[in-house]
Amino acid sequence: MHIAMIGCGYVGLVSGACFADFGHSVTCVDSDPARIDALHGGRVPIYEPGLAELVARNVEAGRLAFTTALAPAVGEADAVFIAVGTPSRRGDGFADISHVFAAAREIASALRGFTVVVTKSTVPVGTSDEVERIIRAANPAADVVVASNPEFLREGAAIGDFKRPDRIVVGTTDERAREVMTEVYRPLFLNTSPLLFASRRAAELIKYAANAFLAMKITFINEIADLCEKVGADVQDVARGIGADNRIGSKFLHAGPGFGGSCFPKDTLALVKTAQDHDAPLRLIEATVAVNDQRKRAMARRIIAAAGGSVRGKAVAVLGLTFKPNTDDVREAPSLAIIRGLLDAGAEVRVHDPEGMDQARALLPEVVFCKSPYEAARGASALAIVTEWDQFRALGLPRLKGLMAQPVLVDLRNIYSARDVIRHGFRYVGVGRGDDDDLPAARLRRVRRPEMPAPVALDGAGRDHGLDRRRA
Ligand SMILES: NC(=O)c1ccc[n+]([C@@H]2O[C@H](COP(=O)([O-])OP(=O)(O)OC[C@H]3O[C@@H](n4cnc5c(N)ncnc54)[C@H](O)[C@@H]3O)[C@@H](O)[C@H]2O)c1
Repeated sequence: MHIAMIGCGYVGLVSGACFADFGHSVTCVDSDPARIDALHGGRVPIYEPGLAELVARNVEAGRLAFTTALAPAVGEADAVFIAVGTPSRRGDGFADISHVFAAAREIASALRGFTVVVTKSTVPVGTSDEVERIIRAANPAADVVVASNPEFLREGAAIGDFKRPDRIVVGTTDERAREVMTEVYRPLFLNTSPLLFASRRAAELIKYAANAFLAMKITFINEIADLCEKVGADVQDVARGIGADNRIGSKFLHAGPGFGGSCFPKDTLALVKTAQDHDAPLRLIEATVAVNDQRKRAMARRIIAAAGGSVRGKAVAVLGLTFKPNTDDVREAPSLAIIRGLLDAGAEVRVHDPEGMDQARALLPEVVFCKSPYEAARGASALAIVTEWDQFRALGLPRLKGLMAQPVLVDLRNIYSARDVIRHGFRYVGVGRGDDDDLPAARLRRVRRPEMPAPVALDGAGRDHGLDRRRA
């Protein structure tokens, strides 16, 4: 198969390189000449584990090429994938699909022979209908089918996800398009095909519904973590206890500073807007968005409280800028809102991240970028772990203590044992954990618990059966 991949970002580059690795002939197109120059020079412009080697191997084998010239790549392609960005539109939170439409207009006049044009970008329901309309208006003679094929890969594990997906969703009811898409993905089937065909609109919605559900799950455990702190329970015990239930599952039950990244924030917001437009508001997702937004800033307040109530004129160290480990992506990362909150409170913020500092520099001109966690900790009144990079999991606590103005560790990913950290003379604050002397949970254990009211049971008619027991 000949494949054209429009957009050489996290999704386009990984998908293009993996398709080439399957044996297809792939041309990746990007409108950013600097990006294509870098790729021609053997430099991969994003950090994704294993990607540089995969790209080099397939370029070497002659199966993968890069260009800014869209027309020749599209002309010879059996399938053209649109994998350009769909960020939040400034002002109203709808998905900005102008790049998708710009690509569709360029593709239209370059089509030769039967071609399947595939929207791989995450796009609101109905976008592929509009892509088809644009192409047919610009080139009525084109023999083309527009299909939807949303991408589910995760940054940091993108190659594995692409090559061993849980499912591949293809939105088309056209038989010829079905054959092409089956052929494109055939090399990754072993016994059973993970291909799931649906209508184009259902495929578009599957992607948003999946991301919204995962974002909701994270937000759920974060709110449970807040409750754990009040009642003296450990959220990690609660997460294990509920995650063991197959109907719930243990993934995405890690309490932390709130979700971020290039997908969940923009996709939840876009879904909320789409649903409102269709007069079918999604209240659960609206609440998820609101709760998560407030949470990031609340984490800054948590750090300030741990440092003694004020950070004005004090240094605070922040470890981790990317929205998760093993990527250089800082888009919508919780670190950005947390650092903004610390700066607003008058702190000097010293940061370190293994891969994210280049991307963050332009967004955070006021912070001090440090070469190591220890350099960041120098003179700090608190050290906050915001991203759970492996490099931060086994820090030398005695060394840190010697460097800091006061030994305070705020572990927003719960990667340390509170007892261990406290044993090294630190004050420890985690998320939703009840095993630290400074946490409300432990304090609760020391004070007499207030009498709890008897449970109130309402029957189907709304009658309160607890009332009689309470009177008695
Ligand atoms: N990043 C992820 O983890 C992920 C996962 C699943 C789905 N998605 C979705 O995939 C899409 C792409 O995301 P991304 O993170 O790869 O974006 P990105 O911003 O990393 O890359 C987009 C690329 O497209 C290029 N581009 C824009 N307009 C173009 C045009 N008209 N012609 C050619 N190139 C053009 C840009 O220069 C850029 O290199 C988005 O819709 C996103 O929601 C992303």
